[in-house]
Amino acid sequence: MMNKMELLYEGKAKKVYSTQHPERLVVEYKDDATAFNGQKKGSISGKGIINNQMSNRLMEYLEQKGIPTHFVEELSERETLVKKVTIIPLEVIVRNIAAGSFSKRYGVEEGFVFSEPTIEFSYKNDGLNDPLMNEYHAVSMGLASQQEVETIERYAFAINEILKAFWETCGITLVDFKLEFGRLRDGSIVLADEISPDTSRLWDSKTGEKLDKDRFRRDLGSVEEAYEEVMKRLNEHLQ
Ligand code: TMP
Repeated sequence: MMNKMELLYEGKAKKVYSTQHPERLVVEYKDDATAFNGQKKGSISGKGIINNQMSNRLMEYLEQKGIPTHFVEELSERETLVKKVTIIPLEVIVRNIAAGSFSKRYGVEEGFVFSEPTIEFSYKNDGLNDPLMNEYHAVSMGLASQQEVETIERYAFAINEILKAFWETCGITLVDFKLEFGRLRDGSIVLADEISPDTSRLWDSKTGEKLDKDRFRRDLGSVEEAYEEVMKRLNEHLQ
């Protein structure tokens, strides 16, 4: 059994601990929720448990489909053992349908279905408000090599196809989501961080109802119920 040792990092939604194994970390999911770079603060009761379990189930599923991830083993309701990575400081956002910042930036109505999935990067830097960054900037700044950027894009679009098809079986439309990737000690790229309603937009396919963190961001109410509904459908459809 791997034990938590030193708290290495506390983020907005998770804590990360070292373990006795130099290449393994423990991630602990909190119920804390923030939006707009931490300006809005709150808590979504039970979110940490749902996000931990959902992210783990989805990463296992992606692994089965050939996508390498940091996932090792779920330790408890809120804790997971993961491979230690150096996080590449890019937020990788894949979009199938216009929403959120894309709609705002380009004046495109929320719900506009793109002719094909699209991708963008943000520089992970809270002090700068995670500004958009193109892949040339990322390479020139030394955040990732050209080859790594290509690998990340390939994985991100492949993950989109896998998750879009899966969520469809649950009666959920995958609108967009954010991924983070890391480097293992041997330099290979793996999917890290989490996949959850905090980091994805998930709309009920029939009613269009929002079943994700936008319920918190936009004060739509029934936040906990939405997370529970998504988890219930995932459990019904993922064997
Ligand atoms: P955006 O439309 O606000 O740019 O968000 C795109 C997707 O990325 C959406 O599914 C929410 C997710 N996201 C995060 O996971 N973390 C963030 O800090 C932001 C801004 C968005």
